[in-house]
Amino acid sequence: MQISTATTSELPQFWDLLTNHLPNPQRTDLRLHLQHLFQIGKLATDDLLVARAGQPVGVLLWQRHRDRTATLWPPRLVESETGTKATDIADALISERLRQSDRLGLRLVLSFLDPADPTNSIILARHQFRRTTHLRTLQTQVSEALRGTAAPTEATSFQLHPVLHPAGTDFSTVLLATYQDTCDCPELEGRRSAAEVLAGYRDACQRPLWFRIVAAQRTVGVLLLATDEEPVRWQLVYLGLIPSMRGRGLGACVLAEAFRWAARQRVQAMQLIVDVRNHPALRLYQRFGFHTVEERALWLWMRP
Ligand SMILES: CC(C)(COP(=O)(O)OP(=O)(O)OC[C@H]1O[C@@H](n2cnc3c(N)ncnc32)[C@H](O)[C@@H]1OP(=O)(O)O)[C@@H](O)C(=O)NCCC(=O)NCCS
Repeated sequence: MQISTATTSELPQFWDLLTNHLPNPQRTDLRLHLQHLFQIGKLATDDLLVARAGQPVGVLLWQRHRDRTATLWPPRLVESETGTKATDIADALISERLRQSDRLGLRLVLSFLDPADPTNSIILARHQFRRTTHLRTLQTQVSEALRGTAAPTEATSFQLHPVLHPAGTDFSTVLLATYQDTCDCPELEGRRSAAEVLAGYRDACQRPLWFRIVAAQRTVGVLLLATDEEPVRWQLVYLGLIPSMRGRGLGACVLAEAFRWAARQRVQAMQLIVDVRNHPALRLYQRFGFHTVEERALWLWMRP
């Protein structure tokens, strides 16, 4: 068996292989998403590793991010008569990727699995990936979220200051400070520099709408929205407060302001991803009518 990267002419067949286990409309949505990432340069042919035994017998896709992390899709194998064992193909593909991530100096490789996917769980565990937590995608309608919100009291008075160019402001320092004692993937805390964290968020937001949260004339938190899918939906990419400002209702007031802003732009829905262990955030989001759309197991490979 040989491992090499894909060629451009092979891409359509591999988009099929990567998506054909899904029902529609998810299959078509994912295929269009992958093609789009390829067109805008966020995926390249060498992000697709192919195992070949004469014919392609398996593929492994990853997406590298600007914060020296990568997202690894589970391997997809071709039903074939070649006699090569499926686990050998998957192992060979993942081993080659991890060798490469070492060469590139990547710190973290993330993989999101269906929680009821024992096959890929066993394969990732064999390669020192650790099942870390579950991540829940939540969504709410803007109209519903606005129904339950209260006006800020004096104790929670604040302003949102738009951030167009984070460089030269206290934005990244405060952003890192909001990670202290976080319940949201604490395993990642301290593993990336401020510049890498910012680069990661830039990757996640093609059309960013970012704010500093200012109270009593100092920055006490950040609010990161992505408006890529306007007006259907905005992504709440991150809301974080420094530890001393938590637990006094400020998060709810900031979120209420974000929803009022979204309503003015005629945005219909807001979506976010949260660690299921993050009880303060889950309680906050519940009050705005967020409900679960999807849950995935997060598997992490960390460079020793
Ligand atoms: C999540 C966060 C934005 C919430 O903002 P907040 O202003 O602290 O929220 P609230 O004061 O409205 O409290 C929200 C709920 O969490 C509870 N809570 C607050 N701090 C808590 C803590 N340390 N432990 C347990 N529960 C806590 C509150 O009692 C409240 O629950 P209730 O509605 O049942 O009373 C804030 O805690 C934070 O910045 N955390 C770190 C970053 C983070 O996890 N961001 C979310 C990423 S998805």
